[in-house]
Formats: sequence, structure tokens, C-alpha cells
Amino acid sequence: MTSKFIIPHNPIITKRDRQRLNGHKSCILWFTGLSGSGKSTLAHRVEEILFENGIRTYVLDGDNIRMGLNKNLGFSKEDREENIRRISEVAKLFVDAGIIVLTAFISPYRKDRSLARSLVEKGEFVEIYVKCPLEVCEKRDVKGLYEKARKGEIKQFTGIDDPYEEPESPEIVIETDKLSLEESANIVINYLKENGFFNVE
Ligand code: ADX
Repeated sequence: MTSKFIIPHNPIITKRDRQRLNGHKSCILWFTGLSGSGKSTLAHRVEEILFENGIRTYVLDGDNIRMGLNKNLGFSKEDREENIRRISEVAKLFVDAGIIVLTAFISPYRKDRSLARSLVEKGEFVEIYVKCPLEVCEKRDVKGLYEKARKGEIKQFTGIDDPYEEPESPEIVIETDKLSLEESANIVINYLKENGFFNVE
């Protein structure tokens, strides 16, 4: 519960000031998709390209955040909701700081992703559906978790015995079973170019 005795301080330096200093706009690049779909790999490759071009970036990644900020959370619907709520608030702070923040979380529920979208201004939330058939993710099984989930050693595993709600109107869809990493990363970079993220007025 928010206390009624909290009085926010109005900052002197605004998001626009920081964007002007950085020479680019800030936004959330929200990568969503099944475990093993390639969210983290893609987010890190996009970050590398942006970084090389002088853009200020930061990646928030499921497995890393779950070792720190969200280490008290599991994979129930409620915990996933809280996971995404915290990430959304952190991502919003990054946008305010003038940074392009890339988030790589399964974020299986539409409701939770739409909360993330609602926290920032129109145009600042770019939902990227990292689309890859379950069979392919399971075959890749980079972390060996699908095998464990099939054996019942891990419960509530997304795609196996827990749902994944596909995005209905994401800004970008990337089919990682059909495209190379470079092709996939370029789609995101071109989206940012075409939508004026590299210019500030
Ligand atoms: S989310 O659903 O709350 O968005 P998040 O992206 O943070 O999930 O974490 C997913 C990662 O946790 C997976 O890539 C996988 O490595 C690991 N993991 C462990 N247990 C589960 C599970 N039951 N379902 C999905 N991922 C799991």
C-alpha cells in the first residue's frame, strides 16, 4: 500500500533533458517468448550494435534478475506477476534516465505485459515477440530444463505445464527459427531508426 504521507519531489532535470544530452530517445525494448526462444541472445546482440553506435543501453535479463532483485520469487502466476511488475518499474526508471533498456523475460501473461506498457509514454514500449515453436525450443534445450520439465522434475514450466499467452499486437515479431541472429537484430535496429529513436528535437 502506498502511504498518503509520501510526497514526490519534482526533478529539475527531466527525461527530455537526459535524452537531449544523450542524443537519442529512450524506450523499453520488451522481448517476450518461450524459454530457449532466443530472447537474451537477441537482446544482447541488439545492445552490442547500439553500444557500438554510441547509444546508452542496459539489459535486464530473467536469469540475472532472478539471482538478485527478484531472488525471492518463484514461477507461480502471482510470482511471475510480481517479477514482471518489479521489472516494469525498473525499466521505467531506465527510460526516465534516458537509456534504451532491453528486457528479456518470458513474461507469459498479457495482463502483466500490458501493465509494463501502461507505465511509460506512448511509443516508449516496443513489444518484441521472439517467436519460436515449442518443439524447436525444446530441441535446443540450451539449459536442459525442458527435459527436466518433461520428467516432472520442474513444475509449472512455461509451454509444458504452464501457459504462454502470445502477444496480440506486438510492435515487432521475430521468428528465430527462420532468421539468423544478425537478421533478427537488424529488424530491431531498423525499427528504432524508422521510428526516430536516434534523433531528439
Ligand atoms: S517469467 O515467466 O517470470 O517472465 P523469467 O523470464 O523471469 O520468467 O525466468 C525464466 C527463466 O527461468 C527461464 O529461462 C529458465 O531458465 C528459468 N526457469 C526455471 N523454472 C522455470 C519455470 N517453471 N518456467 C519457466 N522458466 C523457468
